[in-house]
Amino acid sequence: MTDPERTKKPAGPCVVVIFGASGDLTRRKLAPALYNLAQAGLLSEHVAVVGFSGSSFADEAFRQRLGDDLRRFAEASFDAAAWDRLAARIFYSQGDAHDPAAYARLQQALARASERFGAGRNYLFYLATPPSLFGEIARQLGAAGLTSEDGGWRRIVIEKPFGHDLDSAVALNRELQRIVDERQIYRIDHYLGKETVQNILVFRFANGIFEPIWNRRYVDHVQITVGEELGVETRGRYYEEAGALRDMVPNHLFQLLALTAMEPPASFEANAVRDEKGKVLQAIQPIVPEDVLRRTVRGQYGAGTVLGEDVPAYRGEPRVAPDSTRETYAALRVLIDNWRWADVPFYLRTGKRLPKRLTEIAIQFKRAPAVLFRQSGVARPEPNELVLRIQPDEGIALRFGAKVPGAVLRIGPVDMDFCYADYFGSTPSTGYETLLYDCMNGDATLFQRADNVEAGWRIVAPVLDVWNAIPPRSFPNYAAGSWGPGEADDLLARDGRAWRTP
Ligand code: BG6
Repeated sequence: MTDPERTKKPAGPCVVVIFGASGDLTRRKLAPALYNLAQAGLLSEHVAVVGFSGSSFADEAFRQRLGDDLRRFAEASFDAAAWDRLAARIFYSQGDAHDPAAYARLQQALARASERFGAGRNYLFYLATPPSLFGEIARQLGAAGLTSEDGGWRRIVIEKPFGHDLDSAVALNRELQRIVDERQIYRIDHYLGKETVQNILVFRFANGIFEPIWNRRYVDHVQITVGEELGVETRGRYYEEAGALRDMVPNHLFQLLALTAMEPPASFEANAVRDEKGKVLQAIQPIVPEDVLRRTVRGQYGAGTVLGEDVPAYRGEPRVAPDSTRETYAALRVLIDNWRWADVPFYLRTGKRLPKRLTEIAIQFKRAPAVLFRQSGVARPEPNELVLRIQPDEGIALRFGAKVPGAVLRIGPVDMDFCYADYFGSTPSTGYETLLYDCMNGDATLFQRADNVEAGWRIVAPVLDVWNAIPPRSFPNYAAGSWGPGEADDLLARDGRAWRTP
């Protein structure tokens, strides 16, 4: 993780090569993130960027296109002079990712850019391409001699999804590790770039008062929710393949779970943090096939109303089969078999077309004994709850019971609420700034190690198998704009619990 002192220094010299340079991720996230880093004074004077894709652009046309998008997405905060300074360092190299000649041209473009800006021989290869190209590009880079660290470092950033299941993730890891060393591979999970996600560790380990109660003696259960009000938009084809479970759980939700449940690492050094995350994921009790239908819930949205707007069912979305059985909602009950968390359920849920966009981790503590209040005829006090709001409206709230003023003894829940924006203001961020900056500095703490990715897939593997073998009975089973299928409520009701209504 980036320490505050170091963030004041610009990252080291390098050339950033973006594969998939004409794609959405480059336009919406990577170019704006580079711009924000430049604005914050965190890019080296000796940095250059080379975009690579199959489309044909002159350097100037490529810069123009990125600039136009940036102006559109950044709105008020766009500073044309600052963009021009960055744009002068951006170049474009056209080529087919399967064609060795394209890598020879790229090599020349890299050498030119590097010489012009004194970037040295440090190359960061960002694979913002469809996953089917990850292995191919790495192989071609290797064959062109671009991955060997002669006179500079070479790093490869791999976007999500990393594999489609356990076998394909293991195969991709093996393939990459044949070409480069594990320390050269930076697997992205963009949730780890979110300030509030990084804050989970700070909150837990920089404050003396929470850690002593962060365990099975005090915690009743944990709920992790990643909800989106959006549907699948234009990504029907991808989503028909992926579904909610693959798309969100082994990566984003398990990262949130790992940061919430891990032991304190010995340091914030990359491997120390990733070792601890790995241990938690490995301690997750395997979901045996016979238990899958009892411990998991899948759902698909039907037509409904979201934020006051009528929206179609998933089956009516573009590029989605009219009888699709793909899930757009997934919920799981997970147990972590270690001393800290034995018997404390972690309930995870994620879905499209829920009532609003919301990511939060809610720690629900055990109730206070009811004895005292039973005698005074007062309703049993509600359990304390600590909610880490990851997005939007980033903050942390602690709920506790207080006496409602008046002659009669009544207890009401109140919140102590910290809002990020109130304390720190808000700075423009795509979530990719820290990730790019850390990668330029060789800090892999916020990136996934091979074993972490495989552990995530290993946990969901039986769920994928059983869901695949037993088709859902009644899709669609939740209306767009609701908090998901009724079965998800049953999942908690069986344990005498209920989902929070955020
Ligand atoms: C992506 C998923 O990884 O994360 C998308 O593929 C999802 O389906 C997105 O919408 C959510 O990210 P964020 O940052 O908007 O919460």
